[in-house]
Amino acid sequence: MDKPTTSGKTVINGPMHVSLKHDSAHKHVTGTAEYIDDIAEPAGTLHGALGLSDRAHAELVSIDLEAVKNAPGVIAVLTADDVPGFNDIASTGQHDEPLLAVGDVRFHGQPIFAVIAETRDQARRAAKLAKIDYRDLPHWSDIEGALENGGKLVTQPMTLRRGDPETEIEKPPLRIQGSMEIGGQEHFYLESQIAFATPGEDEDVLVWSSTQHPSEIQHMVAHVLGIANHAVEVKTRRMGGGFGGKETQGNLFACLAALAAKTLKRPVKFRPDRDEDMVVTGKRHDFRVEYDVAFDEEGLIHAVDATYAARCGWSADLSGPVTDRALFHADSSYFYPHVRLTSKPLMTHTVSNTAFRGFGGPQGLLGAERMIEEIAYAVGKDPLDIRKLNFYGQPGSDRTTTPYHQEVEDNIILRLVEELEASSDYRARRQAIVEFNETSPVIRKGIALTPVKFGISFTMTAYNQAGALVHVYQDGSIHLNHGGTEMGQGLYTKVAQVVAETFSVDIERVKITATTTGKVPNTSATAASSGSDLNGMAAYDAARQIKDRLIDFACRQWKVDKDDVEFLPNRVRVGDEIVPFDTLVRAAYYDRVQLSAAGFYKTPRIHWDRAAGRGHPFYYFAYGAAVSEVSIDTLTGEYMVDRTDILHDVGKSLNPAIDIGQVEGAFVQGMGWLTTEELWWDDKGRLRTHAPSTYKIPLASDRPRIFNVKLADWAENAEPTIGRSKAVGEPPFMLAISVLEAISMAVASIADYAVCPKLDAPATPERVLMAVEQLKAM
Ligand code: MTE
Ligand code: MOS
Repeated sequence: MDKPTTSGKTVINGPMHVSLKHDSAHKHVTGTAEYIDDIAEPAGTLHGALGLSDRAHAELVSIDLEAVKNAPGVIAVLTADDVPGFNDIASTGQHDEPLLAVGDVRFHGQPIFAVIAETRDQARRAAKLAKIDYRDLPHWSDIEGALENGGKLVTQPMTLRRGDPETEIEKPPLRIQGSMEIGGQEHFYLESQIAFATPGEDEDVLVWSSTQHPSEIQHMVAHVLGIANHAVEVKTRRMGGGFGGKETQGNLFACLAALAAKTLKRPVKFRPDRDEDMVVTGKRHDFRVEYDVAFDEEGLIHAVDATYAARCGWSADLSGPVTDRALFHADSSYFYPHVRLTSKPLMTHTVSNTAFRGFGGPQGLLGAERMIEEIAYAVGKDPLDIRKLNFYGQPGSDRTTTPYHQEVEDNIILRLVEELEASSDYRARRQAIVEFNETSPVIRKGIALTPVKFGISFTMTAYNQAGALVHVYQDGSIHLNHGGTEMGQGLYTKVAQVVAETFSVDIERVKITATTTGKVPNTSATAASSGSDLNGMAAYDAARQIKDRLIDFACRQWKVDKDDVEFLPNRVRVGDEIVPFDTLVRAAYYDRVQLSAAGFYKTPRIHWDRAAGRGHPFYYFAYGAAVSEVSIDTLTGEYMVDRTDILHDVGKSLNPAIDIGQVEGAFVQGMGWLTTEELWWDDKGRLRTHAPSTYKIPLASDRPRIFNVKLADWAENAEPTIGRSKAVGEPPFMLAISVLEAISMAVASIADYAVCPKLDAPATPERVLMAVEQLKAM
């Protein structure tokens, strides 16, 4: 730690709103950041491996584990019979997800047993020796199959409606019915799932888990072991990426590690390899959007009726809230005068799909943007003009009500889009591209400008709460803990900035400590992009309480008024005297002032009635816009992104450097989803794309050749969030829709822009080539 200065500095290091590097940046790049697999293993540590189903849907007739038990190094083999509490890790309370299979298996890769051995290698080899007899049952892997087999749902669907869509959809002169297939996505976090459990005395167990949701891991371990929550402590210092894939998917590994550790009274670690992680854990939901949209000759939308069907996998997991969020974003940035939106969370015999950056929102938005494209081609206009025509109006207009009856009060989309349109020279470049395409035989170009509006808050109202714990020690150093988890997004840095600013001390004084259920209880997942909104406020509340006590103490001690106590950088002015911060703290301690506080925050104004489809589910909206230009090769279907310009709204940024990193990362991850990343299950229900050899995430060389990312520096949250900032984690993911639409325009040039190419996602080179061939044949 640099020694904090008490000199006449006028500013502190690391207040809010400055660009500061990620607190672990340098540990990340030098390999010294400690991940769970780096924690020194106590003597006697054992290692677990999973025994998986190799059928998609079957009755378990018999399970012979003798050979597994007798394999070298094996200490124990655990099945559902060994679970002392509940054999259930369903995060929703639907009890539809056993920890280990009983009676039947419902997807290829479902865990049936766990092997615990002296080494990880021994455990993995032994797991392959099981002899299992199955009786096969009918199975289906995709939306098509689910619909053909009766359309069984994993959870209650939702409907949003306003106006009179059934009648109004018949009236306007123009109407288009269509459908779009949207693929799923593997999280591909660099650090795979991992859990490491150490048994304590009595019922106690300590679990290190790579999780976005330590409290859920705690509750789930207690539930599986049949013990009280207080016996379980869960710790998470950092994840090597989560992206939603560690909201619920860590439960399996943590519960097995804890179960084995308590059963065998030895530390146990579970770390699947990449293939196993990809086969066993849930992914982004694939969707099929069926839309019916009525509009006039100008391209103004009158009515929309759309169904969002999703591949949910074998159990509910978060599919309810994910498909709900798809509907909440099926309006994108557009006002639908009459609307009906319905979700269909379909059961399939595949891995249970889960949260992934945007949480259904990207699929919702993409369906809406496809409708806009269809309208644009139908009326022969630039899609950007159709977008602007259909944007929500400003407050006071009669075009501000969403399909869920919340008013859009903070609309800045038109300003963002127009600024970006000008700064990127969109109109002239589009004209130049149209001219280029007229004479270019093989290479064709496309350009698209697309908007983002994303609702911030968990739609489950109760989750919008957070806690923090702040201690100030006698030397003036500060210990910070809160319920949020760090997955690379920079949350720890941002919250430390809040605390540094509140006390007016250099950030070096603030020690960021691992998230643990023992310090801050009953936390929500770090998700829905709300980490800094919630935990920043809770930490501010805690720091503010201590600061108020310090002020009261100073007033008593120096016999001055509150107005005469002023926090300057690393020091405090009390009357005419300047006191170093640590001197004040030490004096307060001797006066028996409590220098520790628990903080709390709950988001105001939000409520949601799901059955009625009405409420105010979002505290505010985050906005953004992107314009992408691409080139495609019409002989091979290959493409590249020549240039992307982004203007994004993060309110008054807590840390512009980190926020720009989030925007860039989200955009590229979104690009992967819409272009190269394709999941493929074969007719046996086996995931065949379970390693980087067959599953292609974007490479550094796939990024836009020119990449201009800007935060809207005039933006400020209209709501009193921490420092008037806005959430940033997920919204920019959807900026990548501009790439898909630019590819679509390049394809459309083949038929002189007369038909909408209706590219499904991901637009892999194969799919682009097929679209080109189709248009050539017309
Ligand atoms: N950024 C990095 N580097 N790694 C991640 O795993 N997850 C994303 C986003 N940005 C993620 C990330 C997701 S899905 C969410 S919801 C938010 O970060 C969560 O963190 P926040 O609420 O603090 O923004
Ligand atoms: Mo993010 S999908 O809400 O973890």
